[in-house]
Amino acid sequence: MGFAGLLNVTVDSLSLAYQNLSVQLIVYLIVFTIVLVVIIILNRPVNIIRDFSRTDVNLNRLNQPGCFPNGWIGVCESQYLKDNEIKRFDFCGHRIILLRSSSSSSSSGSSLGKPYALDAFCPHLGADFSVGGKIVKKCETDCIRCPFHGWVFRANDGLCLEVPYAKDKKPPNGVKVKVWKCLEMNGFIYVWHHSEGEDPTWTPNIIDHITTKKWKYFGRTEHLVNCLLQEIPENGPDFAHLNEVHAPSFMWGGKIKENNNILIDSISHRWESTWQKGASNDSHKAILSLKSMTFLFGFKLAELEFDRLEQIGPAIVNLFFCFNLFGIRLEGCYVQSVISLAINKQKIIHHLYMEPNWMSSIVAQFLLRAEAIMLERDIQIWSNKIYLNNPKLVKEEKQIAMFRRWYSQFFSSSKEPQYKFEDLW
Ligand code: FES
Ligand SMILES: [Fe+2]
Repeated sequence: MGFAGLLNVTVDSLSLAYQNLSVQLIVYLIVFTIVLVVIIILNRPVNIIRDFSRTDVNLNRLNQPGCFPNGWIGVCESQYLKDNEIKRFDFCGHRIILLRSSSSSSSSGSSLGKPYALDAFCPHLGADFSVGGKIVKKCETDCIRCPFHGWVFRANDGLCLEVPYAKDKKPPNGVKVKVWKCLEMNGFIYVWHHSEGEDPTWTPNIIDHITTKKWKYFGRTEHLVNCLLQEIPENGPDFAHLNEVHAPSFMWGGKIKENNNILIDSISHRWESTWQKGASNDSHKAILSLKSMTFLFGFKLAELEFDRLEQIGPAIVNLFFCFNLFGIRLEGCYVQSVISLAINKQKIIHHLYMEPNWMSSIVAQFLLRAEAIMLERDIQIWSNKIYLNNPKLVKEEKQIAMFRRWYSQFFSSSKEPQYKFEDLW
């Protein structure tokens, strides 16, 4: 082979190597892009929003309690009220505003400013503060300035401090806008509702791992549903529904299955649960245990036992879990909050927090979707059922009767629904 031939072979080999390298480079680039996209998706908090509320709600709900329960209601998620922001909310038959001071004035050390809750309407001529109102400072205190005529009200007690066009800017004596007690914890701003205006007798628990950020926020689900608030936590003691509504695997989706199907029946969940009211010094709480077993053709595949499930007052549930998956510990909790938009229209919010590790990002995506699927099955029942004051229960369901007795503490005595049950125990 002459020099020219040798040169040709070398050029051919180089060009082949170059082509191989290009193909490899393209493959690497594709794989890298896919991995990058997956990482980005896994690191973005999930946000599932579904509206199951109906416009044709005219069911016979005449027996329903005609009032809202008393307690702390998670009116707003902390992440949706920024510093210097004013937002309007409907809850428990009232229209209120939440406003947040700038974080520089927060004494709590929180990265966000202090929240305040006030009636939405100005006592002067009824303007809605959330439509153009401003957060201002007077004598170092947070105030709201009405967009209509500029009256200024102190945020912490609602007192009118200034009427811009009155002599010496002096307001009429004692003019106030109603202030609602509120507190912020666990990713929510809770507002105290009491039909008779009584003060809080309890507060929700702070979840330390959320406050200290040991657990990371992985996302939320939001569902709108037509039912009474009470019917949602009543699911807790209703063990019998678990093995009907939630027996088919979550893989089959959120629609309640109407027909038997061998494929659907082949993989299923079985549930065990208990419910008991809290101790006398924690009477606003109830504690549940919940165990789920997954079966494939009758053989147990997996078992998941939730650590602790707490119902706190009429509208808050915290569900703690800790389990091992392939030797990796997964710990966290769901925080559930129900906001009564009207007597029979509720907004259900779930937040998921978990201890962060490489697997929790993947598992969180699954947990939030599985939870939404199971919840949507309940919602189909809730949105179409009626509320029965005196349901016909069997002895084995005495937990439902116990729950109703427990829950009746959240209604003011003058309006307390009268539950009558046979003596079941
Ligand atoms: S209505 Fe608010 S200042 Fe007039
Ligand atoms: Fe359920």
